[in-house]
Amino acid sequence: MSRSSSRTVDAARAAVLALALVLAGAPGAAGDEVMERGAYLFALGGCAGCHTDTADGGPVLAGGRVLATPFGTFYGPNITPDPEFGIGGWSDEDFAKALRHGLRPDGSHLYPAFPYTSFTGMRDEDVSALKAYIFSLPPVQTESRPHDLRFPYGWRFPLGGWKALNFTPGPFAGDPGRDETWNRGAYLTEAVLHCGECHTPRDWLGALDRSRAYAGTAAGPEGKKVSNITPDKETGIGAWDDAQLEALLKIGFLPDGDVVGSVMGEVVKQSTSKLNDGDRRAVIAYLRSLEPIANPDAKATAPGWE
Ligand code: HEC
Ligand code: HEC
Repeated sequence: MSRSSSRTVDAARAAVLALALVLAGAPGAAGDEVMERGAYLFALGGCAGCHTDTADGGPVLAGGRVLATPFGTFYGPNITPDPEFGIGGWSDEDFAKALRHGLRPDGSHLYPAFPYTSFTGMRDEDVSALKAYIFSLPPVQTESRPHDLRFPYGWRFPLGGWKALNFTPGPFAGDPGRDETWNRGAYLTEAVLHCGECHTPRDWLGALDRSRAYAGTAAGPEGKKVSNITPDKETGIGAWDDAQLEALLKIGFLPDGDVVGSVMGEVVKQSTSKLNDGDRRAVIAYLRSLEPIANPDAKATAPGWE
């Protein structure tokens, strides 16, 4: 080989190497941003809580979490990327269809114990980031445990009728008349954090009673009280200041010096404590804008040391 041709080969090699670095670098950087966003949404959405057997310290998303409801007991299914036991064989469309429409790839209906009634509001790019993150987690070969539901709730087909009455699919619209902070807070609270799935009372069919949004109930999950978090001054959180709301969302401290209990303790640990500062402020701004509703049966903590 002559000197000049070997130089040409070297130059070509250098060019190929440079191109390879660019190609490896570019999607890598974009991919990192997507993964980070996916991990953040995963925490805020509380996916791990319902899909991990927290009582037995089971592997993340491998299923088994017990969810007691008036309709019977649900067990969070395995949603690891295992192709046989989890959702590893699902396409992006399949995954989006579950979150957006409460449907399985075979078209059967999912129970709203999976809060797709809220997740339906997530933006497309957030749904794909979430899937990318979940598919980066280790697959686990554990079979999902069948739910143990009271008659006649074991049938999936009537869920179609339930959804027709009680479920409006589609990304959260927001309100162009409000500022960006409010819109961010509304999106996170409604579509991702799904606070209303617990804090809004339900009717006998298990549908959210939106006329009493966030007013709480004396008979929440597992028969426990879920507090009124509307800005009502007497029975809600209207008299809490921003620092008190921040302390609750960040570390679960109540304004009377106690620590928030029951499932809310878990929500804080997994989810609201991970909110970044801007998003936490946005959520607080949104909560403050809700319609105040009095509900003495679900009174929130008084904001003082009385
Ligand atoms: C409040 C508990 C709860 C939370 C939070 C939750 N899920 Fe679920 N999820 C369930 C239950 C229960 C089912 C089973 C529903 C059924 O069998 O119809 C389910 C089903 C699913 C399915 C369908 C699995 C299958 O095999 O059919 C997917 C996908 C899913 N969840 C993803 C998620 C993601 C992603 C998140 C977080 C953004 C999440 N879930 C948060 C309870 C929850
Ligand atoms: C899985 C159900 C669930 C979800 C989701 C949930 N909460 Fe709660 N929350 C509860 C329960 C139950 C309590 C009452 C805890 C207690 O009695 O100690 C509570 C208590 C609270 C309190 C304290 C009120 C008081 O009693 O003084 C605030 C504030 C609150 N939640 C805000 C939120 C916000 C904001 C979200 C969404 C980010 C949210 N919660 C999501 C179940 C939930």
